[in-house]
Amino acid sequence: MAAAVRDTVSNLIGKISGMGVQDTPLRQPSAEEVAELKKKYEQANQGQVFARFDTLSSNDQAQLFHQLSTFDPEHINKLVKRANADAAAALKTDTPKSLEPLPENATASILDSNPDDLRRWYDEGLKLIAENKVAVVLMAGGQGTRLGSSDPKGCFDIGLPSKKSLFQIQAERIAKLQSLATDVSGNKKVVVPWYTMTSGPTRQATEKFFTDNNFFGLAKENVTIFNQGVLPCISNDGEILLESASKVAVAPDGNGGIYQALITSGVRDDMKKRGIEHIHAYCVDNCLVKVADPTFIGFAASKKVDIATKVVRKRNATESVGLIVLNGGKPGVVEYSEIDQDTANAVDPKQAGVLKFRAANIVNHYYSFSFFESIESWASDLPHHIARKKIPFFDTKTGATVKPESPNGIKLEQFVFDVFPLTPLEKFAAIEVKREEEFSPLKNARGTKDDNPDTSKQDIMQQGLRWIEAAGGIVSKEAGAVGVEVSPSISYGGEGLEFLKGRTVNAPALIEIEEKKA
Ligand code: UD1
Repeated sequence: MAAAVRDTVSNLIGKISGMGVQDTPLRQPSAEEVAELKKKYEQANQGQVFARFDTLSSNDQAQLFHQLSTFDPEHINKLVKRANADAAAALKTDTPKSLEPLPENATASILDSNPDDLRRWYDEGLKLIAENKVAVVLMAGGQGTRLGSSDPKGCFDIGLPSKKSLFQIQAERIAKLQSLATDVSGNKKVVVPWYTMTSGPTRQATEKFFTDNNFFGLAKENVTIFNQGVLPCISNDGEILLESASKVAVAPDGNGGIYQALITSGVRDDMKKRGIEHIHAYCVDNCLVKVADPTFIGFAASKKVDIATKVVRKRNATESVGLIVLNGGKPGVVEYSEIDQDTANAVDPKQAGVLKFRAANIVNHYYSFSFFESIESWASDLPHHIARKKIPFFDTKTGATVKPESPNGIKLEQFVFDVFPLTPLEKFAAIEVKREEEFSPLKNARGTKDDNPDTSKQDIMQQGLRWIEAAGGIVSKEAGAVGVEVSPSISYGGEGLEFLKGRTVNAPALIEIEEKKA
């Protein structure tokens, strides 16, 4: 695929609103075309979107026409109805009674696995990477409202000595893996293609950041940015909301939009062309993410599963993480917003003081490519979840723009893990990993208790410190120094630090190049 830029049909709006890559003048629709589209919306009881159409300039008319053409109002009505019904049913039944932890035969743990298995999985995964069969998909379409930054989360500088952004850290890990895999491939060129999913609100800034930073040293033909879809925002009365007289209010369709977007963007075709067989998909906000982790790829590939997922032990009953569970006999995730207190607090009958439901979802998912080939047969069945929000809107009756004080409508979102229950248990696996090595999400702004830029920085610096000490280095800590940043270009997962054996590193420090002993 040409360097890096693809659009999904439903993101035509990105272009229309000036957020996309090009500003092609829009074709003026004919009177018949407008009448036909208007009828379609009126028949779906959504005619309000045309209320001011006749008063608009011809450019604005074209803009609204083309945006409205990308949606099927009857289909939107159905999605809303189903999402409302699912939400009402969930309220009535509380947490489903059949919720259980995943059975042991569907799980493994890095913490207590046989070291031979761990080595085997790592070797197998690295071999698959060396054979150019592994790709990475980053979900970066979220708006990061809790973090309080208007930039895409991946651009965020968490305050490391190097000032590296999350995007850069992830790109450097890919580059390092390519080089580790090249060593086992007999020096053949190894490529791990990186596909980054953005949305209307994150697209332009992400693209600019990648370009300005020269794709962080990766070959740009192996870095692709593609857009997920958007859906209209809906009022509490079920009406499609307008943002202005000539524009529908839209929101990204959730990280579950990834599946449809992989097809419409051409990413899946690109993977096929490249001979990709294994995919690692992950969230942008985790500074410790082991992108394309060979151990994870090897684990999943050797088990021949369609989907695998990493979990960490839930910090406590109130941590805002989804839980990997068996729900009615099927693998699935119960979101933190959907679990009742009793279930969250339940204790494992076999281990006193340990939570029964503790397998926290860290959104590190493995997919076999053959599974991606079936997307068409299930993607439209994935449910939409309701997020109740304060949505600014254009009042078609008064012509005023209203900023509501309380939630006045809903955004519809698909969740990436809603595909899990469609997967037979024997084709699904979970692996427990060490939180301190693999999970430190950036969710909240500075000054909050957890999961903020300072905890992200600290977790990277502490990891570096552990790696250096394990390699026989000595870290001298001044008062308040938190640790050492080890650049991914030096070490992907703690390997390759032997050159520091017996040497003293003064924290806080940055190990960016391998300095040989004099
Ligand atoms: C997510 C998980 C939750 C998990 C937690 C761990 C989902 C639905 N929930 O929750 O189970 O325990 O992370 O940190 O996966 N994104 C898009 N497009 C969107 C919305 C989000 O690409 O339309 C991306 C975000 O950029 C981010 C990821 O999806 O990379 C997760 O989104 P976020 O809203 O942060 O999810 P959480 O509520 O934290």
